[in-house]
Amino acid sequence: MITRRTLLKGISAGGVIATGFSLGNFYTDSALAAEFENRLKIPPLLRPTTEGAVSAFNLNIRNGSSQFFKGVNTPTIGVNGDYLGPTLLMRKGTKVRLNVSNDLEEPTTLHWHGLHLPAKNDGGPHQVVQAGERWLPEFEIKNEASTYWYHGHMLHKTGSQVWKGLAGLIIIEDENSDHLPLPKQYGVDDIPLVLQDRRFNETGNLEYLSFMPDLMMGMRGDVMLVNGSVRPWFEATTDKIRFRLLNGSNARNYNLGFNDGRTFKQITSDGGFLEQSIETKRLFLSPGERAEIIVDIPKDQKLVLRNFPSSRNRMSGMGMMGHMMGGVDDNERYDILEIRPSENLKPMVSVPEKLVNLPEANADQVARTRRFTMEMGMGMGMMMGKRANAFTINGRSMDLGRIDERVKLGDTEIWELSNLSPLPHPFHIHDVQFRILDRNRRPPYANEHGFKDTVLVGPQEVVRVLVSFRDYADENNPYMYHCHILEHEDAGMMGQFVVEG
Ligand code: C2O
Ligand code: CU
Ligand code: CU
Repeated sequence: MITRRTLLKGISAGGVIATGFSLGNFYTDSALAAEFENRLKIPPLLRPTTEGAVSAFNLNIRNGSSQFFKGVNTPTIGVNGDYLGPTLLMRKGTKVRLNVSNDLEEPTTLHWHGLHLPAKNDGGPHQVVQAGERWLPEFEIKNEASTYWYHGHMLHKTGSQVWKGLAGLIIIEDENSDHLPLPKQYGVDDIPLVLQDRRFNETGNLEYLSFMPDLMMGMRGDVMLVNGSVRPWFEATTDKIRFRLLNGSNARNYNLGFNDGRTFKQITSDGGFLEQSIETKRLFLSPGERAEIIVDIPKDQKLVLRNFPSSRNRMSGMGMMGHMMGGVDDNERYDILEIRPSENLKPMVSVPEKLVNLPEANADQVARTRRFTMEMGMGMGMMMGKRANAFTINGRSMDLGRIDERVKLGDTEIWELSNLSPLPHPFHIHDVQFRILDRNRRPPYANEHGFKDTVLVGPQEVVRVLVSFRDYADENNPYMYHCHILEHEDAGMMGQFVVEG
């Protein structure tokens, strides 16, 4: 078996990448010892240009070439660049127009993950942008200040296109965030961190679905990228840093903390500020989830952002087989980012306890409960690489021509999400920010009381969320709900709902 150590050695020694995949504990011996050698890239901040009453963003999707490793060119996909895209700065209450052009040789889409908007502007699998064409959605920003993101959402292609780099961040600001005394200088004390794992082959190309467990477990890699940087370091110049974290991986979960065991403050969940900042040592993020944290930077001492084991990575009923399938490496300890304090740290004001007034998650006025059950066909067909009906919600695989659910505009519903498979699945709902009522009838985790659009549902777990459908009805254009493990989504663990007026 080829380990990560071999991979790293191969690159630094000869400029040649040694080999492709690795399994199991590839991080443990190498990653903790390896040097942080690359300055963290910060995605450029894209402020809109004003076109009449709208704020416009030009987004050009194109093929790129990236040097993740010195001297090795890797074909990638980027937006206005080679890998990933710019961070879009939007304001609540403004009208935006996204001028999306597709210079790939294949169709794609761009989806605005977490945004509340009309379905025809959502950028899901129905809003295909053909090769060489443009798409110009326009909508009002109604979301609260937080960190959102955009990514490709082409049916059966989401996983491969995002894996190559088709994603970027969206920052929304509003009156509340204007007034909160928080670090807000982008790239200085307000730092985006897009976490992604990737796998490369011997020529430096990104590998995709190259061996059997990739479909079942979702694509995982043995190289960590942060904003597209390998082994990155970041120089802190202030004594507090706000990190905007996105789990932009196709399938990997992260359980984040710091090497010296320090606590930090979580201030947002997916769709807005938490009512109060939460002091914690660990932050668990499944694919698609975001969180902003504030970290105190120590003087004269390097700090390392690290992944730690978590019981939430548990797979049920798979035992050794699960181990063999490579899924348990989410539980490895490995380093992600080194933070180097500069000589004089500029002092920042302290983070306020109270951040926002959240409406009560009140289940009294609920129109109805809908149940969604995620399942994976684990039979021989699946093992032989046949996809048919292996990944389902309520027993059905995704069909673009079928509307699975019809909800009424203005209604609040309970969606009961359950998981009958042996793996945890992050369930995501388009258009809405929901509230988590309970997990297995017990209160959700402390950091799950705010607005969420993606929630991890563990094996045998039942998570109930409270979701309201407001503002936009359209009987013809559906929104998606799906597992955010992109290979599961592509293989059918997705459904469609319309909001009827
Ligand atoms: Cu982040 Cu349907 O997607
Ligand atoms: Cu989404
Ligand atoms: Cu899944």
